[in-house]
Amino acid sequence: MSKKIVIANWKMHLNASQASLLLHRLQERIRIHREVEVVIAPSMLVLQPLSVQIDRRKFRLAAQNAYHQDKGAFTGEVSFTMLQDLAHYVIIGHSERRIYFNENLDIVSKKVSACVRNGITPILCVGETKQERKLGEAKRVIHDQIYTALSGLTTSEVSNMIIAYEPVWAISTFGGEVATPAQVGRVLEFIRMQVEELYGKQAAKKIRIIYGGSVDDKTVGGFLQIEQCDGVLVGNASLNYIKFAGIVDEAYRQSLV
Ligand code: 13P
Repeated sequence: MSKKIVIANWKMHLNASQASLLLHRLQERIRIHREVEVVIAPSMLVLQPLSVQIDRRKFRLAAQNAYHQDKGAFTGEVSFTMLQDLAHYVIIGHSERRIYFNENLDIVSKKVSACVRNGITPILCVGETKQERKLGEAKRVIHDQIYTALSGLTTSEVSNMIIAYEPVWAISTFGGEVATPAQVGRVLEFIRMQVEELYGKQAAKKIRIIYGGSVDDKTVGGFLQIEQCDGVLVGNASLNYIKFAGIVDEAYRQSLV
């Protein structure tokens, strides 16, 4: 069984002292696991202070977004270049960014390229809306999201990245319907097939594909058991240290099976 990855997406929550306190609680509770990789994606504002506080034997840091140009007159933006020493990963193409900030396929693709160019590993989010699923378009949507985002990358760059399947309808922000592990498993398999078609067997085997619809410490087990599932991207439940530590514990338990 491959090493699982558990990522906390704190979204636009927690000021500097709240973030520091939550990290402190997590560091107390979560042990060093060689079998589970734990990643924290705090707001841009607190990445720097957390990078000083963080126990690197337990956690890695991710940013939730960045701009695709490396530098220049882009008021209010932060580039991937600026994140090089701070973040191991950057989340790209989250549905909240696609929907609220009009990030289209082209922008997401530019961000993935900028991320890789700056030596940071992308966590690419893909997933269909409820309407697209109803119309039977889920596979086409996911295919397009993957195809455009990965174009221009080498096989080894693709092999190293992470794709998170986040069905928009299952994210708490957009309704939070419960997806079943069976439904998710079929899509994760489809995503791996897409990668295989585009970049070959080795890349498809190596790339990490994770689930990012709503999970908590009670439901995560079912998703982590999916054969194709290399981990989870957690929203709401990652703001609660008991729930998030419970999710990490479950990933650890499964690594022992
Ligand atoms: P929730 O866990 O709050 O549904 O959010 C999932 C998500 O968007 C992870 O990136």
